[in-house]
Order: sequence, then C-alpha cells, then structure tokens
Amino acid sequence: LTPAALSTISDLVFGPFDAPGFIFALAQPAAAPWLKEELKERHPELRFAFSRPGLYTFKATTLIDPEFQLNSVFARHWGFSLGAAATTRELVETLPKPHGDDTERIRLFVSARDATDNTEVANSALDSSRALADKRAAAVRAEVLTLTGDRFHPSPTPATGDWVLDVILGGEDEPYFMGYHKHSAAHGRVPGGVQRASAPSGAPSRAYCKLQEALAWSELPVREGDCAVEIGCAPGGAVAALLERGVKVTGIDPADMAPELEEHAASGNFVHLKCAAGAVSRSDLPRRAQWLLCDANLAPQVALRYITQIAKMLRPHLRGIVFTLKLNDESVLSALPGVLESFGRLGKGSPRAIQLPSHRREIVAVVLV
Ligand SMILES: C[S@@+](CC[C@H](N)C(=O)[O-])C[C@H]1O[C@@H](n2cnc3c(N)ncnc32)[C@H](O)[C@@H]1O
Repeated sequence: LTPAALSTISDLVFGPFDAPGFIFALAQPAAAPWLKEELKERHPELRFAFSRPGLYTFKATTLIDPEFQLNSVFARHWGFSLGAAATTRELVETLPKPHGDDTERIRLFVSARDATDNTEVANSALDSSRALADKRAAAVRAEVLTLTGDRFHPSPTPATGDWVLDVILGGEDEPYFMGYHKHSAAHGRVPGGVQRASAPSGAPSRAYCKLQEALAWSELPVREGDCAVEIGCAPGGAVAALLERGVKVTGIDPADMAPELEEHAASGNFVHLKCAAGAVSRSDLPRRAQWLLCDANLAPQVALRYITQIAKMLRPHLRGIVFTLKLNDESVLSALPGVLESFGRLGKGSPRAIQLPSHRREIVAVVLV
C-alpha cells in the first residue's frame, strides 16, 4: 500500500491520519528468518523494515489494493501500521475523532508481541511470561476503553468487515505499537490473531497447548462423542486435550504414553496402538473416526505418506485432518508449498496453515475432508 492508499483507508476508519505505508506482522522470534524469506517470495512488493522480537514491519513499495491479504504461514496476525504511542493517553489522543454519529464503532485488540524465543525457553517460563503479558494487555485495553468512552465496541470480537485497531505491547518501557486491519476469514477473531493456550499441571506434554490453539484457530467442529486417530501420540498432550473435549482417541506411536492416560485406556476412551504408523491396518482403527491428526517427528513428506494411507482407511467418515509439519532443517521450507498442495488434495479446498504461539520448529496445516 502506498502512503496515499493507507491514508485513504485510515481516513475512512479513524478520520484524517498521517498513515505510513507499512504492514506489520506478528510472528515467533525464532521464525523471523523464515517469515522474511517467505514474504520475499510471496510478496516482492514488501521490503523488510523495522522490527522488535515478535513484531515485524514491511514497507510497501507499490500500490496495493485496500483488500490486500498477507499470504503467510509464519505471520499469525498482520495489519497496516499506524506508528507508536508512548502512553495510553497519547495513544488515545493520537486517534483522530471518528466522522459523525453513524460511524460504526471499531474493535480494539490489545496483545503482546512474543518477546522470547520458544526454542530457548522452558515451558514453565513461557507460560508465566504469557500470563503476565496477557494480564498487562487486559489492563491496557481497559484503560483505553475508559479514556475513549464509546469510541470502541465493548466486545473485542469482530465480524467480517469490521475494522479493528491493533495495539501491540512490548517491554514495559517500550512505546505501544499501533496498527489496524479489516476483519476477514484470513484474520483471527482474537487479539494477536490466535489465542495462546497454557497447559494445566499434569498435562502430558506441550502438544496439549498446540492442539488447543490449533482447534481454536481452525474452528474445526470437533465435538463431544467424536472419534479421532493420532499418528505420533506419545506422551499424550494432544490426546489429553481431545479426551477433555469428550472425544475418544486411538493413538499410534511406538513410544510410551504418560501414566495420566492409564485411566482413559482402562475406560476404553483411549486406545494405544504401540507401533509405527506403517504397521497399522484397517482392523486396528475405530469403525468411524471423524478426525485424523499427525504430530509424528518425521520429515513432512514421510508423514504425509502415512497420513494419506490412514486417511484412506478412515473414509468415508473422516471430516478433517490436522497435520503438524516439523521444520527440522532449512530444506523443508522450500518443500513446504509442494507438501501443502499434496496435503490439500486429501480434502476439499486449500489447506490452511499457520505457525501457532506454542509451536517450536513446526507449523500446523488443517484441511476439511
Ligand atoms: C512430538 S512427539 C508427539 C507428541 C504427542 N502428539 C503429544 O501430544 O504428546 C512425536 C512422536 O512421534 C512419534 N513417531 C515418530 N515416528 C513415528 C511413526 N513412524 N509412527 C508413529 N509415531 C511416530 C515419536 O515416537 C514421538 O513420540
């Protein structure tokens, strides 16, 4: 977007505003090189500009349609930059008055950028820094709402076509970063794009959070009474998240499950096939399973072969597939578009893919069958 186009959009939404021609993206600090590579390829019109860990901006060098969509797996949220404000009051004063009474109230998203590198921090440290960041975001949101009267909609949840002001928090002494976007299916409904999940004590693994985030983001209609099959299920974080939703699970993994799952195995809600995915036959699987998941630490091309075999066995009842792709080496990145295309052929429509807040060197792709 050129500065002129951005000014036009922000004029419409916020009133006259000196908008710069920048796009912002929220992503994991560890994924920043991948994000930059990806955008160089998919959006040659964008040039990497200013960044802080977790927050990346790109200057638009050409005129882009106002309905512009960022085509990215690594950016979990994005919008148009508005600049910085040092305090909540300055933020509020910076926002121009809306035009007339008939202006639809806009939504307010306040979220914290990912300050730490997921691949270097222990799970418990990640959870406590997230909890603190979320608390601060809620406090800043409340303060802005108090200072602005009814300028913003009291509910942050946008519908398609709603305008949203994004406020991104960094360190305590850092100015607030402001941006905005028009809500569409390409954007998450929550501040920061994806609701971060934290694991309850006793969750067998961090995969509990990965699955909670994947289900919230994808809005897959996974319901109580459904049945799921997971390839690479040990020690059982995702299985625990599914059981919690009342979903019965058959897990495939040669490794041991966490002892927390024993009672579910005894009640018949969880079945562990203690073997590699290649050794599974149709008779080992439940008669009807609606969901297939794969979190095996295999190269994505290899994992996809097992997914394809097992998906075939689960038809015609299968409704969707959740595939965690491991990005263990840089070569996977260039193979990604091809793998995602093949994965998409297992379902209808293109698969959706994203790097979630709890991911490490991985992304998730989802397809409806
Ligand atoms: C990241 S862990 C899975 C975590 C698990 N989803 C959870 O919720 O706790 C990866 C797992 O893939 C399993 N795995 C690797 N190759 C496999 C194969 N060919 N078939 C089944 N599981 C496999 C490993 O044994 C390992 O337990």
